[in-house]
Amino acid sequence: MKRRILLLSLLALLGGSLAPAFAADKIIVKIAGMKPDGEPETVGMKLFAKYVMEGTKGKYDVRVFPNSQLGKEDAYIAQTRKGIIQMCATGTQTGSIFPAMAMLETPMLYDSLDHAHKAMNGETFKLISKGFAEKSGLTMMNAFPLGFRHFYTKKPVNNVNDLKGLRMRVPNIPLYVEFAKQLGQSGQPMPFAEVPAALDQGTIDGGDSPFSDIVALKMYEIAPNITLSGHILVIHSLYINNDFYNKLPPEDRKVFDDAAKRSAEDIWKMAADNEKKAIDEINKGGGKITNPSPEFKAALKKAGEGTWKLFYDTVPNAKEILESVKQYK
Ligand code: G3P
Repeated sequence: MKRRILLLSLLALLGGSLAPAFAADKIIVKIAGMKPDGEPETVGMKLFAKYVMEGTKGKYDVRVFPNSQLGKEDAYIAQTRKGIIQMCATGTQTGSIFPAMAMLETPMLYDSLDHAHKAMNGETFKLISKGFAEKSGLTMMNAFPLGFRHFYTKKPVNNVNDLKGLRMRVPNIPLYVEFAKQLGQSGQPMPFAEVPAALDQGTIDGGDSPFSDIVALKMYEIAPNITLSGHILVIHSLYINNDFYNKLPPEDRKVFDDAAKRSAEDIWKMAADNEKKAIDEINKGGGKITNPSPEFKAALKKAGEGTWKLFYDTVPNAKEILESVKQYK
């Protein structure tokens, strides 16, 4: 009997001393991204981290790893799916897991940032992501803009024919490869982190990126001709591992959900201003920004819409998704 009491006292003592230690420990959440500091993706991840840490009074230690620090995009998406890390930020790379995700960046679809914003806060987002969590093991928590893509080239581009045959970097995503093909370009698929070296070494003649990337990587120093094509709005999202997410206590899950929504809204608000600042920086840095003619724009629209056949072939609700965007014009 004495020994039992001793054992119980010992357990109580251990429990008593362990409980506060456990409560004091923070739960680490790692988020990986591909873009450098100061870009909307990284700003969005950092804001999310701040809101979660504030909202849970420091229960979670949210650590942000931008700029491909945890590997290039395909590598860190795989790590998030396996639960090696808890979260990541990326874009339509997730289309390789679930083809509808590529439709987040349907070329020539949105008239303006505002149009896209409404669609992403509405039915279009829901239709695109329906079934994604079950297929991927990830939950898409939000959608925020990195900006409209424009061409940057070493040589001036005055019309659509000037794009033909150019070795243009494209993300390794079928939609982008197809768009380059529609324009008669020689698309060179490569991860984002490899672009500066490819420009330096002359293995590409240019590429297309949002202003945020063009400025962060100073692409205009090597490829100074920027054609304001605006053909694709880049949309990135925060993704979270389903097992981790589903095990969060409901009150914490709500903080995570709210933080994701709030950080995305912050980025939408910054987007137009970011574009203006980037134009100033490109002009000051010696870049030459030109507006395509109406004929050039019409050719881009035709090429962009030419890629939509990919969606009709691979996404069962593609028509419904495209139709849903019209109500937000
Ligand atoms: O959303 C996909 C997009 O991020 C791919 O473009 O240039 O960032 O690799 P990039």
